[in-house]
Amino acid sequence: MDCQKGIALRLIHIGKIISSEVVIGDLDMRERQVEADIMRNSSDESRRQELHAHLIAIEEEINRVFELEKGEPETLYETAQHLLHAGGKRIRSLLTALSCEAVGGTFEQALPFAVATEFVQTASLIHDDVVDEDDTRRGVESTHKKYGNRMAIIAGDLLIAQAIKIVSQFASPELMRMVADAGVKMCEGEASDILMYFTTPKMLTKESYFEIVKRKTVSFMRAATKIGGLVGDATEEQLKILDSFGEQMGYAFQLRDDILDVIASANTTGKTVHSDLKGSKTNYVLIHALNLCTESEAEKCMDHLNNGNIEFALDLIRRTKAVTHASALAQEYAEKAKDAITDKGLKNEELLCALADHAGDRDF
Ligand code: IPE
Ligand code: IPE
Ligand code: MG
Ligand code: MG
Ligand code: MG
Repeated sequence: MDCQKGIALRLIHIGKIISSEVVIGDLDMRERQVEADIMRNSSDESRRQELHAHLIAIEEEINRVFELEKGEPETLYETAQHLLHAGGKRIRSLLTALSCEAVGGTFEQALPFAVATEFVQTASLIHDDVVDEDDTRRGVESTHKKYGNRMAIIAGDLLIAQAIKIVSQFASPELMRMVADAGVKMCEGEASDILMYFTTPKMLTKESYFEIVKRKTVSFMRAATKIGGLVGDATEEQLKILDSFGEQMGYAFQLRDDILDVIASANTTGKTVHSDLKGSKTNYVLIHALNLCTESEAEKCMDHLNNGNIEFALDLIRRTKAVTHASALAQEYAEKAKDAITDKGLKNEELLCALADHAGDRDF
């Protein structure tokens, strides 16, 4: 990053740290929840303020870059910003920033990459809602519901193109390859996911589930941490640690996402409730329940789901205590993520561990 820009960003950031107590309202509700969740076991006020300042700086930079890059037609940019400004948890952006600092880099170095990460995240969600036919996201109408499939698809493409533009200003070919590779894996994962919808119970194995998740969710979490590490000039050893952390956290995150699809309300997640069950989509809780019942029960369950009736599946999930099992597994992955970075001499160990816990047991 050129020096002047770096200093300017640092000044913005320091300004926010100083004033963080008065600007608490600047964060979106979900970011505030993330902050509270991450700090739930800590009484370190200066760390909370620093985390708060990071989240605010990420938010402001997302807005600044989007405004700066705005072009025409207006509808395209309005469509692209709909979800971007609806407020996500910004977990991957935070991961990039914290991972960069973990290996001795600065927040300012990581900031453009954190922004690019969120652009890709938002794009993937716009597209995911088209393929999953979901109407609600981040507490608002999903992008295609509001603007139509055609504009939504192009808006997602726009955000990806903008992310490449941002990253290419600062990134080495190695970093560019890593970003692109995560994108390729995510597409493969999303495609394999769709191919599993409305399938037979026999096809819905845990093995295929983890293969899909490795691509659709884990690859991006790993990229978010490794990008931060590379920007912060990590050693090979440090990159491996961050990679392993991102990997385990990614599994915890998707398992918890599947659990929330079964147990949470739209108010807490901001997403369509029971979307996986209603659409016969890949969901670990359901797969586990199907594994524990008889073959005929499993077939009956899928027949009901394929006809849009989720009550039989919900009852099966209750009877097999599949949520309890999946919750324990999500927390196991969170523990593995924490083990991967504990006592490795990295900075931000406590915050990253708290983020892993959040991934495995969050309620939103
Ligand atoms: C949703 O990601 C996609 C999954 C991998 C489950 P998030 O739950 O992080 O979505 P936002 O960015 O906070 O909206
Ligand atoms: C999507 O997984 C993962 C992506 C790569 C976007 P889901 O389909 O489970 O995500 P949600 O539940 O819609 O957020
Ligand atoms: Mg979805
Ligand atoms: Mg999906
Ligand atoms: Mg989901």
